Amino acid sequence: MGARPVLLVVDDSKLIRQMIRGFLSRLDAEIDEAADGKAGVDAAFARDYDLILTDVEMPVMDGLQFCRALKEMPKTRGLPVIMVSSFDSDDDIERGFLAGAAAYVSKKQAEATLEGVVRQHLTRFDFSRKRLILVVDDSRVIRNFVEEGMAKAGYRVAVVEDGLQALQQLEMETPDLVISDIDMPRMDGFELCRAIRTDMKTAEIPFVVMSSNSSRGFLQRMVQTGAASYIIKPFNIDQLVILVDRLLSDHVQILLADRYRLELEHNLILGSITSLVSALEKRDPYTKDHSENVAKYATGIAGTMGLDKTLIDTINLGGRLHDIGKIGIRDDILLKKTALTNEEFEIIKSHPTKGAEILSPIPSLAEIVSIVLYHHERWDGTGYPERLTGELIPLAARIVAVADTYDALTSTRTYRSALKPMEAFDIIARVKGTQLAPEPVEAFLAWVETAGSLVAQKDE
Ligand SMILES: [Fe+2]
Repeated sequence: MGARPVLLVVDDSKLIRQMIRGFLSRLDAEIDEAADGKAGVDAAFARDYDLILTDVEMPVMDGLQFCRALKEMPKTRGLPVIMVSSFDSDDDIERGFLAGAAAYVSKKQAEATLEGVVRQHLTRFDFSRKRLILVVDDSRVIRNFVEEGMAKAGYRVAVVEDGLQALQQLEMETPDLVISDIDMPRMDGFELCRAIRTDMKTAEIPFVVMSSNSSRGFLQRMVQTGAASYIIKPFNIDQLVILVDRLLSDHVQILLADRYRLELEHNLILGSITSLVSALEKRDPYTKDHSENVAKYATGIAGTMGLDKTLIDTINLGGRLHDIGKIGIRDDILLKKTALTNEEFEIIKSHPTKGAEILSPIPSLAEIVSIVLYHHERWDGTGYPERLTGELIPLAARIVAVADTYDALTSTRTYRSALKPMEAFDIIARVKGTQLAPEPVEAFLAWVETAGSLVAQKDE
């Protein structure tokens, strides 16, 4: 859940309202109070709540009437209502659910269980109100029946009369699930299901069939067409809600599992690549910590430029991996202590391309690849490998180039000793607009003003 949840607590006892507040203190919710059902209705009408807790026995309008009233109003019928009552016989609980309550908690157990129940229903409501259900049926009675039932369960609902209208609706907004009748004029449920299945954009949407035909041949045909499930008319709306909940959460579970797997893979790959980079740096004592430093400075520049968090993360990683292509350069050239021949220098210059080749098979690293490939391009077009100029060089690569240059200048190399930070700042400022892109240079110089000590610590 994103923002703070907004709750309404309805109870005629101020003391109980305070207690409930206390039980829910860890939710960091905004909580309004009302003393009876009537006041609760007014409050729910005036403000958008995420969840309502109500007592049952109250003067003016009791909790059951209150709950029914909420379920009547389109604005509030999807809201989860939790009954908190001192009566907890099976009959009491049954009456609560019949009135439309999402849960029933006895006051005796509220301290132990209320927070958990509230969290669960907040999550569920947050999930369902973002989901759009498309209902397709030529019978107005069925349409209204299903629309109302799904809306009370918290879903957003769109209704249409036949397959053709459904396809038009699909053009406007992609639903998360379709519930459709089979026998309809113009375009029936089979044709609609087939049309949805064969369109790339909609092929994954679960399709639920409502039909009064339960013959085996019919069900087989339906499954072959690609329906996810079916419900036989006449049905109880709760059965349909449970079916939809399950289909959508299965669907979401699969998507989540996929994302988790990708993240895991991503982290594993990154882990092994980063250790490769540090192994690489150990070959050459002069480049010790180079990649970490470049990542640190590049992140500082990106932050100063006000770039968004995702891009900053990419730049950080790009900084750590920018020289990974040096893995492919022979030691006798990479570690050579005397001047390089032209040929040897050409080989060194192949490291951005080699690095991009190493990383490009990993789809999740696509943005990193362009940093690796272009970190030696120069603003004036004299860099390598592609001699790109100005803004044709990706911004992230321009930023890493500044960080790379600074760290190189302030590190000891075989052919010269390290420059002092102030000397390096001067050089960087001087090549602004020729070798290095102006904007990242300015951001770098601004950043070292504020984080100056951080940079100066190096080599001391
Ligand atoms: Fe490099």
